[in-house]
Amino acid sequence: MIISPVIKGVVARSAHPLGCREAVKQQIAYCQSAPQVHDGPKRALILGASSGFGLASRISLSFGGSRTETLGISFERGPSEKGVGSAGWYNNIYFRQEAEKAGVKSINLIGDAFSPQTREQVIRTIREEFDGQIDLVIYSLASGVRPDPQTGEFWRSAIKPIGHSINGLTLDLEHEELAETSLSPASDQEIHDTVKVMGGEDWEEWITLLIKEGVLADGCKTIAYSYIGPKSTYPIYHLGTLGQAKLDLHNKADLIHQQLQDIKGEAHVAVCKALVTKASVFIPGFSPYLLALFKVMKIMGLHEGCIEQAQRLFNSKLYTAADETVTDENRLIRLDDWELRDDVQLAVTELMAEITPENFKQLGDFDGYQEDFLKLNGFGFDSIDYGQDISMTFMESLKP
Ligand code: NAI
Repeated sequence: MIISPVIKGVVARSAHPLGCREAVKQQIAYCQSAPQVHDGPKRALILGASSGFGLASRISLSFGGSRTETLGISFERGPSEKGVGSAGWYNNIYFRQEAEKAGVKSINLIGDAFSPQTREQVIRTIREEFDGQIDLVIYSLASGVRPDPQTGEFWRSAIKPIGHSINGLTLDLEHEELAETSLSPASDQEIHDTVKVMGGEDWEEWITLLIKEGVLADGCKTIAYSYIGPKSTYPIYHLGTLGQAKLDLHNKADLIHQQLQDIKGEAHVAVCKALVTKASVFIPGFSPYLLALFKVMKIMGLHEGCIEQAQRLFNSKLYTAADETVTDENRLIRLDDWELRDDVQLAVTELMAEITPENFKQLGDFDGYQEDFLKLNGFGFDSIDYGQDISMTFMESLKP
């Protein structure tokens, strides 16, 4: 079959296996050419390893200097009568293939990271395949739902402002339109549920379990990813439901850090730059900021994607020559330092004031945004012949 991009709203309904392989290979090439990570971890567990920041972390760890062995957990779909499968499915496969070629161990587990079965499987795999010890745990799940273990019901996140409505523009990738959105304030229940889904509780549960099972090595570090952003995005992010969830994540990092003291471990939150990922395109009203931010940071030569952020995290913040994690006064690792520079934000604010539904393609970095979105799903690579026939048999022969 010929595989073409199918976009519904902000969701990609198709993925190109060979394009996903190209995306993984390009990220590997970047890490090999960038300043290397020294004294990185020997073995890492990555929760949410198949796309965005989790995939970039995995690639950077295995190919950016430290040749880290990785166990990657993700929730992805393979090919079936419903479709070709998700991009993350193919990212896992091609990452493993490239790691094997390089002689670096990598294992993919596909399953729901919130479920007890997946947790048991992870612990068993660490014991059987990683000498029973892990040196770094990356928590990079982004999900809209999480099951309540008591009731079996789902908590569902709601990306909304708190206390007041907001109106703004949001990008519809399917129709290439910037359209008005109006968001009503979240209810107390919606705030509570979003914190349950995107806050730090599940991260804390994972680390508590891994400590109890004795599978964390002395000095083990753990990292989760967060976003704060500039004041202009506060109403939809930092002061909204997502911000509440991230605040919970930051608080849980301190509790986890305490728990890890017996094994001289560390827990940190890395505050990242705003980027186009499968998860972030869902944040209503956020896209005009991204269109302006990308434009400005590219002009200033400061733009980074997930892979550049991950490599910088490991080579200059988490594994440093002085063996000290580089944080701000609140123990947060700041990878949003360039995004939040005064000169960047001044230019972004000026540009955002000019962006309208009529001119956003010219004034904002629409091409860059769209290209990133397509590449997340394996499309838009010059080196791939998108007219070629990809058989179902071939896709089904690829195993995680
Ligand atoms: P993503 O959607 O690209 O990746 C999410 C990962 O979680 C995928 O590997 C997916 O398979 C996995 N996953 C989701 N539900 C799962 C489940 N139930 N069981 C197992 N795996 C599951 O998301 P992205 O953007 O990389 O987000 C990761 C973290 O980075 C989030 O905490 C997000 O808030 C944070 N972040 C994202 C920023 C952005 O601009 N995209 C900026 C700063 C932080």
